[in-house]
Amino acid sequence: MAADARLVVSNVTVTFGGLTALEDVSLTVESGEIVGVIGPNGAGKTTLLNVICGFVRPRAGSITYRGRELRRHRPHDLPGLGISRTLQGLGLWRGLSVIENVIAGGQASVRADLVSALLGLPRSSGEEARLRAQARTLLAELQLESVAERPPGVLPYAIQKRVALGRALMAEPSLLLLDEPASGLSEHEMQDLRSLLLSLRSRMGVLLIEHHMDLVMSTCDRLVVLDFGRVIASGTPDVIRADPQVTTAYLGEAVTGSEADDAGG
Ligand SMILES: Nc1ncnc2c1ncn2[C@@H]1O[C@H](COP(=O)(O)OP(=O)(O)OP(=O)(O)O)[C@@H](O)[C@H]1O
Ligand SMILES: [Mg+2]
Repeated sequence: MAADARLVVSNVTVTFGGLTALEDVSLTVESGEIVGVIGPNGAGKTTLLNVICGFVRPRAGSITYRGRELRRHRPHDLPGLGISRTLQGLGLWRGLSVIENVIAGGQASVRADLVSALLGLPRSSGEEARLRAQARTLLAELQLESVAERPPGVLPYAIQKRVALGRALMAEPSLLLLDEPASGLSEHEMQDLRSLLLSLRSRMGVLLIEHHMDLVMSTCDRLVVLDFGRVIASGTPDVIRADPQVTTAYLGEAVTGSEADDAGG
C-alpha cells in the first residue's frame, strides 16, 4: 500500500491553545481513490484539510505527498503540488464572473486583482486564450456553460457550489480535498454530485469530508471516522456502517440535535 500511496498523513496532532483539534491522526489517499472523512461537528475534519494545505501547522506528525514531506508549504503552493481544495462555504469572488472564478483556480497566486489583470492584458492574450479554453472545457463537463459570464452571486446555491468545484479542478489536481461539497444541496443535486465524484476518481485521489451518509457510503472506497480529533474507526463503507462506535458517535449527535443547528460553520 505504502509504495503507491499519494497522500500520507502520519500521526498528526494539531492544537489550538489548550484545545486538541487532531490527535495522532493517520490516513492515506491513493490516486484513483475516494477516501471519506466523517465525524460529528467539531471532530476536526476541516482542521485536517487545513493542516494538509499548510494553513495550520501540526504540533506533531508529518504529511507526505508523492513521497515528499510537506513541511513549510503554504496554501499558495498547492496548485504547484497538484493539490486543490474547496472550502466549507463557497469562497467565490463576487466581482468576477463564473468563468473568471474558474480560471482563477488554476493560478498559483489567488488574488482577484491579479486575475482581473491577467484576464485583461494584451501581453497575456495567448495565455488568456489557453486558460479560457481550458475553463470552457471544464464548465462544459460541469454543465455550467450557460452561466459562464454571469456573476456567481446571482446563481442558485447548488450552481455556485459547482462553480467552486470547477475552480478547484482548474489546476488539474492529482489530489482533490472537498469540505462538505453536498451541504445545502437537494436530493437530486446530490445525485449529480455523486456522478461527478465518481467520474473524477479515475483522474485523481479525493479526500471527501461530508455529513451526508448516503453520499459518502455510495462514493467512498474507504472511510475514516473522526470523533474529538481522534480516528475512532476506518475501513470500507460496509465495515464502518457496522461499527457500533460510529453509530454511537453519530446517533449521539442526531438524537440530541444539540450541535445540528450550528452545522453550517
Ligand atoms: N483556528 C482555530 N482556532 C481555534 N480553534 C479552532 C480553529 N479551527 C478549529 N478550531 C476548533 O477545533 C475543533 C475542530 O474544528 P473543525 O472545524 O476542524 O471541525 P469540523 O469537524 O470541521 O466541524 P464541522 O462539521 O462543524 O465543520 C473545534 O473545536 C473548533 O472549534
Ligand atoms: Mg468543518
